[in-house]
Amino acid sequence: MEKVLIAGGTGLVGTHLSQLLNEKGYEVVHLSRKKNPNAAYPTFVWDTKKGTIEEEALQGVDYVINLAGAGIADGLWTTSRKKLLIDSRVKGAELLAKAIQDSVQKPKAYLSAAAIGIYGDRADEVLTEDSAIGTEGFMVKCCQEWEDAIESVTERTGLRTVAFRIGIVLSTKGGALPKMLLPLNFFTASYFGTGEQWYSWIHIDDVAQFFIDAMENEQMEGIYNATTPNPLTNKDLTKRMVKALDKKALVIPAPTAALRLGMGEMADVVLNSNKVLPKRLEEQGVSFQFPTFEAAVKDVVARGI
Ligand SMILES: NC(=O)c1ccc[n+]([C@@H]2O[C@H](COP(=O)([O-])OP(=O)(O)OC[C@H]3O[C@@H](n4cnc5c(N)ncnc54)[C@H](OP(=O)(O)O)[C@@H]3O)[C@@H](O)[C@H]2O)c1
Repeated sequence: MEKVLIAGGTGLVGTHLSQLLNEKGYEVVHLSRKKNPNAAYPTFVWDTKKGTIEEEALQGVDYVINLAGAGIADGLWTTSRKKLLIDSRVKGAELLAKAIQDSVQKPKAYLSAAAIGIYGDRADEVLTEDSAIGTEGFMVKCCQEWEDAIESVTERTGLRTVAFRIGIVLSTKGGALPKMLLPLNFFTASYFGTGEQWYSWIHIDDVAQFFIDAMENEQMEGIYNATTPNPLTNKDLTKRMVKALDKKALVIPAPTAALRLGMGEMADVVLNSNKVLPKRLEEQGVSFQFPTFEAAVKDVVARGI
């Protein structure tokens, strides 16, 4: 039985991925900031601030998956919050690189989350892995330092490395969708600003499966956009969500000025435009279980995943 260590395995993507891996017969262990007596998986503890990691964490591990990082939209982007957003990703990668270097038997691959935020705010430009990364804004800076840290894991360990620039993950258990579903209870749905900005999204089953594909397919290496081939504008996506779920709702804008007032710089998360295509995944011949938004949103709501 092959063993997979998932850092940040308690999070949205990690929980789903752990379950899929388990069903496929992999042994799953987690790397977390704390031991939880009710944890579903054996858990090792690390502290990315102090640079400590339980010695046995890497023992017998075949694949390391790093999904850890403080939540991008979980708090206003103060100077200290920005530092935490970067440090939790960069220091986590550095700590894992060291632990892998120190391990007696090296894992077969290092897989990591990254984010499409690296492209910055790009209006209607079609973005693939060949596109230049963005030049402005905190999302770009954070994602760039994160990818630099991933690259340095490759350099330090020599492991095959795969990083997924993940789009908006569709799940009812966390991320953007629950916040979009909530106003439906009050017969409204909002888009942000003009609503013309592009959102690149992905069903949680698909993103989890891509990590498994990347483990199992030795040809996969480097950076991949993990989004469907069907990005939508924010306004279109909101309207389609209402229709797909058979809801009655007035679709109204949340004005840019109000968003900037309430969220400050963090409003970039909802206002930036990223029309991203999964060029490398498609070249790899990977298939999407949920390429269309309506089917994806219906599915996560129906299954409560
Ligand atoms: N969900 C999305 O739409 C989306 C989109 C693009 C990119 N991503 C990226 O993909 C990764 C996984 O996403 P997710 O939605 O599953 O994230 P999540 O639910 O926020 O989980 C991330 C995990 O990281 C750990 N963590 C939180 N704060 C930390 C800190 N300060 N230092 C170290 N570890 C910390 C936590 O695990 P413990 O509490 O067990 O330590 C948490 O469960 C993240 O890096 C995220 O930025 C997600």
